[in-house]
Amino acid sequence: MKVGRRESFNAAHRLFKPEWSDEKNLAVFGKCSNPNYHGHNYVLETWVEGPIDPETGFVIDLKELKSIIREEISDKFDHRNLNLDVAEFKERIPTAENIAVVAWNLLRARLPQHLHLKVRLWETENNIVEYEG
Ligand code: NI
Repeated sequence: MKVGRRESFNAAHRLFKPEWSDEKNLAVFGKCSNPNYHGHNYVLETWVEGPIDPETGFVIDLKELKSIIREEISDKFDHRNLNLDVAEFKERIPTAENIAVVAWNLLRARLPQHLHLKVRLWETENNIVEYEG
């Protein structure tokens, strides 16, 4: 059984490698490398898969999942500049792929081991990445 929860957060980022020239950054990352950052309205879907607990009838209590997502994702990412404000992106470019990996790692650490975790991150209405470890 799979259960999911959707949470959105707004954040700024810039795709940029300091060791590359401005020309190369522009060629690879396009407008996403604009020096003054830009924002996205991200949507993170968190999917948890496992057996239904016969005692509660839940795979996971979605109230509890909501609190974990708030603490690990919303409180850290929402209304932040990912490059400047989030330690995980000091050394890692905040692409949708890397944001999904960081989110997965943060959530994984908080969930019972027997549950399988998958995250799907919507950076725009059209661009989606998915990661499950
Ligand atoms: Ni962008």
